[in-house]
Amino acid sequence: MLLWTLDAVVCCAAVTAVLRNASHGPQKETEVKPIRCKGCCPAMSPHLLLLLFCATLIPTPAWTLPFEQKGFWDFDGDGGGLTMMMRDEEEGSAFEEFPGPEVPVCPFGCQCHLRIVQCSDLGLTAVPKNIPPDTKLLDLQNNKITELKENDFKGLSNLYALSLVNNKISKVHPRAFTPLRNMQKLYFSRNFLTEVPKNLPSSLVELRIHDNRIRKVVEGTFAGLGRMNCIEMGENPLQNSGFEPGAFKGLKLNYLRISEAKLTGVPKDLPDSLHELHLDHNQIQAIELEDLKRYKNLNRLGLGYNQIRMIENGSLAFLPNLRELHLENNRLSRVPAGLPNMKYLQVAYLHSNNISRVGINDFCPLGFGMKRTFYNGISLFANPVNYWEVQPATFRCVSDRLAIQFGNYKK
Ligand SMILES: *[C@@H]1O[C@H](CO)[C@@H](O)[C@H](O)[C@H]1NC(C)=O
Ligand SMILES: *[C@@H]1O[C@H](CO)[C@@H](O)[C@H](O)[C@H]1NC(C)=O
Ligand SMILES: *[C@@H]1O[C@H](CO)[C@@H](O)[C@H](O)[C@H]1NC(C)=O
Repeated sequence: MLLWTLDAVVCCAAVTAVLRNASHGPQKETEVKPIRCKGCCPAMSPHLLLLLFCATLIPTPAWTLPFEQKGFWDFDGDGGGLTMMMRDEEEGSAFEEFPGPEVPVCPFGCQCHLRIVQCSDLGLTAVPKNIPPDTKLLDLQNNKITELKENDFKGLSNLYALSLVNNKISKVHPRAFTPLRNMQKLYFSRNFLTEVPKNLPSSLVELRIHDNRIRKVVEGTFAGLGRMNCIEMGENPLQNSGFEPGAFKGLKLNYLRISEAKLTGVPKDLPDSLHELHLDHNQIQAIELEDLKRYKNLNRLGLGYNQIRMIENGSLAFLPNLRELHLENNRLSRVPAGLPNMKYLQVAYLHSNNISRVGINDFCPLGFGMKRTFYNGISLFANPVNYWEVQPATFRCVSDRLAIQFGNYKK
C-alpha cells in the first residue's frame, strides 16, 4: 500500500462508503478505500473531514496507517468538524429561502441538527415524512426501505447528499428524484436495484451504486448528467453484454469502478475522459490491441485479480499518461510489452502472476532521457522468477531500491 502513497498527484481521498453498525457495539467502518481522483471529490464533499485529514498527511506514508475516524454521518458529538463543513457549504446556501416553521420539524426517531437529518438504523420501511426542506444531508442508511415513491423527497431542493446505503430498495419511481435539483452525491450501495435509477438529477457529481443486482445499463441511462464525475458500480452481476452501446453517452467521468463484476474483457464504450478505471476482480482473460485505444487520459488502471494471460503487444501504447498499472493476481507469464515506453509510469504491480523471466529491458528504456518519471513501485513477488537471476540494471529507472518488491517465490 505504501506505493500508492508516493504518487505526487495525490489530491484527495474518497471513501466508497462509511458504514456504521450502530446496533453492534462500537461503530466500525467498512469499505474505506483511499482513492485519489483528481476532481472526483470537489471541496463540497461530505468527506471533507477526510480530505482535511489526508491533506495534512500528504505526502507522508502515514496515510496508509489504519484510519481512525468517526463516520461522516455521525456529527452529533463532533461540532467542530461539522461547523467547518457547514461553513464551507454556506456559500450559495438557500437557507434564507426556507426560514422554516418556528418549531423545527424532524421525522420521528431521527436526529436533525445543522441541516443534517440522520435516520440511519431505525428499521424504517419507507422514507420518513416531515424532512425539513432546508436539509443538506439525509442519511437513511441501514434501514429496510423497499421503494422510493414519487413524493418521498418532495421539497428537498437543498439536498446535497443522500445516503440510502444498505436498504432493500428495488423500485424507484421515475420522478422520485425530480425535486432534488441540487443533489450532488447519491449513495445507493447495498440495495436490490436491477437497473440504475432513471432521471437522476442533472446536478449529480457522484454516484455509488455498489453491490446491487444491476445486470443491464441501457442506452441513455446517464443522459444529461454532464457534471457527473465519479461512478462506483462494482459488485453487480454485470457482463460486457450488459452495457448497451451508448450506455455511458454524455458522461465526462473522471473515475469509474466496475470491479467485482462479471466482465470478460475491458468494455470498449466507456467515457474517454476517464483518468481512473478500476476493473479488478473480474474475469478478464486478455487485453487485446484495441481494448484500451479509447482511454488515452488514464492515469490509473486497475486490472488486478483477473485471469489475464496475454496483453497484446502495443495495447499499452494507447495509454501515454498512465502512472499506475495494476496487474497483480493474474496469469501473465511475461512482463507486458511496452512498459519502457510509458514515460510517466511509476507503479507497476505484477505480483502473483506466472512470470518466470524478467528481461533487462522489460521496464526501462534504453536512453535515460526517455523516461520522465522514475518508478517508485514495482512488485514482482509471488512469481516463479528467481530474483538472483534478474540483472540489477533491469531497475535502472527506479527511484529507490526499496521501491522494488521482490521477495521469495512461494508455491
Ligand atoms: C452489523 O453487525 C452484524 C453482526 O456483527 C452483522 O450481522 C450485520 O450484517 C452488520 N450490518 C452491517 C450493516 O454491517
Ligand atoms: C512489440 O512490438 C514492437 C514493435 O512492433 C517490437 O519491436 C517488439 O519486439 C515487440 N515486442 C514483443 C515482446 O513482441
Ligand atoms: C505458467 O507458465 C508456464 C510456462 O512458463 C506454463 O507451462 C504454465 O502452464 C503456466 N501456469 C499457469 C497456471 O498458467
